[in-house]
Amino acid sequence: MMRPMPYAVRQRDVAPAASPVPPNPAFPRACIIGAGSSGLAAAKALHAAGVPFDCFEQGSVPGGNWVYDNPNDVSACYETLQINTSCPRMAFSDFPMPADYPPYARHDQVAAYFEAYVDHFAFRERITFDTTVIRVSRAGAGWEVVTHGADGEHTRHYDAVLIANGHHWDPRWPDPAYPGRFDGEQMHSHDYRSGDQLRDRDVVVVGSGNSALDIASEAGRVARSTVLSQRRGQWVLRKFTLGLASDRLALPGWMPWWATRARLRFGALTSGDAARLGLPRPDHAPGASPRHTMEVDFDHYLWDLARERKRGTRRAENAPARAVAA
Ligand SMILES: Cc1cc2nc3c(=O)[nH]c(=O)nc-3n(C[C@H](O)[C@H](O)[C@H](O)COP(=O)(O)OP(=O)(O)OC[C@H]3O[C@@H](n4cnc5c(N)ncnc54)[C@H](O)[C@@H]3O)c2cc1C
Ligand SMILES: NC(=O)c1ccc[n+]([C@@H]2O[C@H](COP(=O)([O-])OP(=O)(O)OC[C@H]3O[C@@H](n4cnc5c(N)ncnc54)[C@H](OP(=O)(O)O)[C@@H]3O)[C@@H](O)[C@H]2O)c1
Repeated sequence: MMRPMPYAVRQRDVAPAASPVPPNPAFPRACIIGAGSSGLAAAKALHAAGVPFDCFEQGSVPGGNWVYDNPNDVSACYETLQINTSCPRMAFSDFPMPADYPPYARHDQVAAYFEAYVDHFAFRERITFDTTVIRVSRAGAGWEVVTHGADGEHTRHYDAVLIANGHHWDPRWPDPAYPGRFDGEQMHSHDYRSGDQLRDRDVVVVGSGNSALDIASEAGRVARSTVLSQRRGQWVLRKFTLGLASDRLALPGWMPWWATRARLRFGALTSGDAARLGLPRPDHAPGASPRHTMEVDFDHYLWDLARERKRGTRRAENAPARAVAA
């Protein structure tokens, strides 16, 4: 059963700045693959415990998916991206996001936050940047890890390997591919960076996830025409309720699930009825889906769509389409 997250990380929760802890050679040796948010959390925990480890990151900076134009060449971050849970919920439990951040931090603020995390807990020198793990295989009771970096290929042995390589670097295209021929540009949301790619073009956005709605919102601003194609509807929650980040109103974990479902239902129903504009009506109640209800800056797109619909220049379609797979 889904439960609301009861926590919020407050400024007073910050752990004292750490100085490097000497690794204890009696401990098993570990290797961490990736220095995105997951790899950083693992690295900080091992570092604090004195576990000897190496962290390898193929890019030249920490933060993974949150680094715009990440030199690792696989980040899906785009210009308008901001977090969809508020800062006090997104933050590591012992490292609040800066007090002067907006309720939903922008991607550059999130990336800066990860940089600050590495320095605060003093484990930067444990990360080897610009180095890709190209092979991991069993070697006795441990693991053999092969890396490739500026100084060539190296093989090292570890007792444990923590794989924190993310998964959004691997765009998922429709399979089987859409039938027929399309001579326009097809792009996965993974390769979307900014509205400049859509400016003055006729754009079809496929999907009802956060990527699709963010991109449709931006297309609504800059494209010549925008069609949003959804094979099924999703509930859309506003990011703010009563002037507060909506997830700050989450109920404590001990409350029964029906109370949270009622809150989600209220939030979804007061966010505007996308079905009235021609988008598919969700086939489930808010909070009753295994997928999460989304929180995106969709409002102005819906508003824009409604306005344009009156003029008959834009459409929301409930049909398969070819152009952008989200
Ligand atoms: C557009 C978008 C928006 C999102 N928004 C949110 C949000 O608002 N809130 C939220 O909680 N989550 C969000 N997510 C989910 C997001 O994936 C997580 O926030 C987070 O980035 C996952 O961290 P990670 O460390 O697992 O992966 P990543 O951030 O992808 O980091 C993986 C790291 O591993 C490195 N790596 C990969 N393979 C190797 C290798 N072989 N050798 C060395 N290094 C390697 C990569 O270079 C990268 O730095 C979003 C995802 C996307 C795509
Ligand atoms: N911070 C943010 O604002 C933000 C922005 C972007 C992404 N994210 C996060 O990144 C992760 C991925 O999000 P995402 O939106 O990229 O992916 P997603 O949530 O998996 O959504 C993919 C969408 O594409 C549709 N789809 C998939 N295959 C299709 C096909 N063959 N034909 C038609 N439609 C198809 C899906 O429809 P069905 O529902 O019918 O399967 C779904 O609506 C999520 O965790 C999300 O929260 C966050």
